[in-house]
Amino acid sequence: MTSLKSFHTFGFSAHAKKITHLNSVADIKSALPLHRPFYILGGGSNSIFVDDFAGEIVKINLRGIECNETQEDFGIKVKAGENWHEFVEYCVKRGMYGLENLALIPGTVGAAPIQNIGAYGREVSGFIQSVDYIELATGEAKSILQADCGFGYRDSIFKHELSDKVIITAVNFVLPKKWVVEQSYGELANLSNPTAQDIFDKVVKIRQAKLPDPSQLGNAGSFFKNPVIGKPLLKSIREKWPAIPSYPVSDEQCKVPAAWLIDQLGYKGKTLGGILCHHNQPLVLANTGIGTGRELLQFARKIRDDVLVTFSIKLENEVRLLTTNGLIDL
Ligand code: FAD
Ligand code: EPU
Repeated sequence: MTSLKSFHTFGFSAHAKKITHLNSVADIKSALPLHRPFYILGGGSNSIFVDDFAGEIVKINLRGIECNETQEDFGIKVKAGENWHEFVEYCVKRGMYGLENLALIPGTVGAAPIQNIGAYGREVSGFIQSVDYIELATGEAKSILQADCGFGYRDSIFKHELSDKVIITAVNFVLPKKWVVEQSYGELANLSNPTAQDIFDKVVKIRQAKLPDPSQLGNAGSFFKNPVIGKPLLKSIREKWPAIPSYPVSDEQCKVPAAWLIDQLGYKGKTLGGILCHHNQPLVLANTGIGTGRELLQFARKIRDDVLVTFSIKLENEVRLLTTNGLIDL
């Protein structure tokens, strides 16, 4: 058995039967067929091994960036194992703008389309042209266009039809030369005439102030998704909780911050065993160093159940939870 402790940012002491490192498309092809259970892993910042894993971990390490400039835009092919934040920094330094709101998100480029990473008013899907992958059943190299990726809030085809069926090898980005600044998020709105570098710097600052650094305190970012609810439910919650924040997503629905719901219930700064509900951002559950998978599931289920009883809203896990045979829902 191989330790997974350093392979996921939550840092539980789980083990896997085997870890295989894949550094090239040729490595991927020669590793096929994969035997179940297997799990494809990037940086492990959205994956929590709550127990030992009975199968093979396939770690994606493909590296390389190729740029192709046209009159209107920059086309950039980035291999799946590149570090996301370093790639964003690379772009901003070379005058290729658009991704600066997504600075300091941990993990790999290959995982970015899986849950369509998003922060501070931007989602990665807005800059993806296509995604290259190897189909596991055939070993064939294929490419899927942005419009066919089913991108939504923390969602894509890679979590549904293509889940467990492909290894992403590269993401093809297109960054228009005509830069449009995105400042709708509260703390960015205060910047006057910011450059992309200013947005990048501010996002890094906000994140460093709010979110725990996984190298200091094990965590996987937001544990739950922000729920989308119907407007009638929002109205009825408002009668008792007039301060509930909400953001419209359509005529009928709006998103509410899970952090606010959890905060109202007094969980902020509380622990269950070695698991902490973070004192700056209660949407983040963290491993104090002595936490166990069992404690994490117990704490997360308690929070979910309390939110359901109090607000009639069912929280769903945003992180990927893995036990012996693979992914589970909370
Ligand atoms: P992993 O955890 O390794 O994998 C995630 C999923 O992608 C798994 O299902 C895995 O099987 C699959 N996968 C990975 N690589 C491949 C591949 N090459 N081919 C096929 N499938 C693959 N997310 C946001 O959206 N916004 C944020 O603001 C944000 N902030 C965060 C802050 C912190 C402190 C932390 C710890 C996490 C945060 N996250 C955020 C979550 C996380 O960083 C992202 O989901 C990131 O994209 C995960 O990348 P990874 O390589 O670590 O993925
Ligand atoms: N809030 C509280 N109490 C708190 C903290 C926040 O009530 O202690 C409320 C406030 O109303 C605040 C709101 O929650 O305005 C939103 O908080 P924040 O702006 O920190 O963002 P979030 O909605 O909690 C989402 C993403 C983050 C992303 C940020 C910034 C999800 C699940 N999370 O968090 O993504 O970085 O917005 O855009 O959508 C991640 O996915 O891992 C992640 C960190």
